[in-house]
Amino acid sequence: MNSSGYRTGLQEDKTIKGAVMIEKTLAIIKPDAVKKNVIGEIIQRIEKEGFKITELKMLHLSKEKAEGFYIIHKDKPFYNPLTDFMSSGKIIVMLLEREDAISFWRKVMGATDPAMAEPGTLRRKFGFSIERNATHGSDAPPTAEWEINYFFKVK
Ligand code: CDP
Ligand code: MG
Repeated sequence: MNSSGYRTGLQEDKTIKGAVMIEKTLAIIKPDAVKKNVIGEIIQRIEKEGFKITELKMLHLSKEKAEGFYIIHKDKPFYNPLTDFMSSGKIIVMLLEREDAISFWRKVMGATDPAMAEPGTLRRKFGFSIERNATHGSDAPPTAEWEINYFFKVK
């Protein structure tokens, strides 16, 4: 905040519209949710929560593209099954914009493990297991920027 009460020190993924900080995040509807025919319900929820969907595409990731996306987890025991799963069917990749988009989208999704996620969250509603948990969301501004650029070239 500066002395006029406006937040300063903008990062590249933030712009001021009025006094509202608009942030971008990357969201994915994972293969389990696409197979369940709940794309529409999830997108409707995204819009109801006040996000603007500014990019959207359906893709079928290769194993290599899924491995690249989750490279941060390459040493985890779940890396190989996760990247098999993420390349097992079509996904929807979206660029979402909203005030506090990154943390707000993670709140709407709920905890990684659907069994631990709050009632009403997308993972609680549509997730099947800690791996097949219906949706993805970036976890911080630098990862959001990296993930957005992995799928969308944003000027
Ligand atoms: O997606 P989120 O940021 O909540 O969790 P993560 O710890 O970054 O893990 C990435 C993804 O790996 C999760 O969304 C799950 O699909 C999967 N995962 C898994 O299969 N088994 C785990 N024990 C943890 C995560
Ligand atoms: Mg994560």
